[in-house]
Order: sequence, then structure tokens, then C-alpha cells
Amino acid sequence: MMRIDVISAVPDSLVSPLNTSILKRAQERELVELVVHNLRDYAYDKHKQIDDKPFGGGPGMLLKPEPFFECIEECLSERNYDFILFPSPGGEIYNQRMANRFSLAKNILILAGHYKGVDDRVRERYATNEISIGNYVLTGGEIAAWVIIDSVVRLIPGVLNDSESALNDSLMDGEIIEAPYYTRPADYKGMKVPEVLLSGHDKKIKEWKEEKSKNLTDKWKKINNLE
Ligand code: ADE
Repeated sequence: MMRIDVISAVPDSLVSPLNTSILKRAQERELVELVVHNLRDYAYDKHKQIDDKPFGGGPGMLLKPEPFFECIEECLSERNYDFILFPSPGGEIYNQRMANRFSLAKNILILAGHYKGVDDRVRERYATNEISIGNYVLTGGEIAAWVIIDSVVRLIPGVLNDSESALNDSLMDGEIIEAPYYTRPADYKGMKVPEVLLSGHDKKIKEWKEEKSKNLTDKWKKINNLE
């Protein structure tokens, strides 16, 4: 079973995200084990302080190195990690290929920073991959951790049912956007589902989907400045 550990100063923020819908079901089916560690449990001093002012000045507080080092060392004493991920706006932009690679791992550890950041010695000593989920700034790495966990866990065999299958996803092999989907009613407020989908003509439906997919993929590449 794959195991993903997260270290966080605000572990509560991950309780609902990791225990709802498909991630919840994946844990119940024992296809993945998700464990969130509370950084405060590893506070070094008697005041349980986990943050401090940055050397050299500047606004905000930084998460101190000692609680991270203590918690990470405890994790490492119990298992080896294929990847130790450090979410950060300065990291490599996350994509499906990375999710595919991480989904083959046995154990992953995610170091979720909060506040203004983490003392850089934590990243320097332990991170194998620094990952950004996009060019914008979040309040903390927990949301990025959720994004990474969600995209990885759904790729584990058995997590999705056949009808939810990841095999024909948009972006499965990198850069394909799928044709749109519709369900009943066929006419909603005058907005009609494309006739061909109601025709029962398998070959025509397949051709329509391929054509739509190609057009949407071209448009997607254009608006995202790809190629
Ligand atoms: N922490 C703050 N912003 C982030 C981002 N865009 N990606 C990953 N981690 C982050």
C-alpha cells in the first residue's frame, strides 16, 4: 500500500480534504495510507514555539528548522521515502507527468510550509523535489499538498472505478483535452445537446469526439501559449 506523510503546522486544514469523496474511499479500501503530522508536536522548546523572526529582517515569521528536522528524522527512522516534496512557488511547475511518476512510489513525504515560509535549511537538507502548483502565491503548502495527493492517489490502481477511469483522462498522455460531456435533459432551457450524441451511431459519435477533442486541444494550447 502506498503511504503519504505530510508535515504541517496546521494539520486540521487537511482533515476534510483528505477524508472526503475518492480520497476517503481510497483509504477505506486500503489502497493508500495518508498521515498528517502536527509540526507543533515536535516543538523544541518549552513554549512550543514553531516560528521565529527572519534573520536579516523582513515581514512575517518563518517556521523554525528544529521541529521539521525532528519530525522528518522520526519519519525517516520508520521508512524510506522515494520522494520528499517541498511545495513552494519557486519550485518546478507541477504537471500530469510528475503525478504519474509519483504514483509509482511506495512512500512520499510532503513538507508543507506555512506563514511566510520555512527556514531554508529544511529544504536544503531533505527535499528531493521542490514543486509549485502554479504561478500564484498560496497561504501555505497544505493546499499544494492536497493537490499533489489528489492527483497522485487517483492514479493508484483500484482507486477509481471503471466509470471514473483515469485511462482516458484529459492530459493522460500529456496534452489532450477531451470532448465535452452531457447528460439528461437533452434540451435544457433551449440549450440542446449535440444531435450526434443522441443518434446511437457509434462511429459518428467517435468521430465527433475526436474532432471536438482536437479543436479543444488546439484552443487550449493557444490560450496557454504552448507550442
Ligand atoms: N506555497 C505557496 N504558494 C505555492 C504554490 N504556488 N505552489 C506550491 N506551494 C506553494
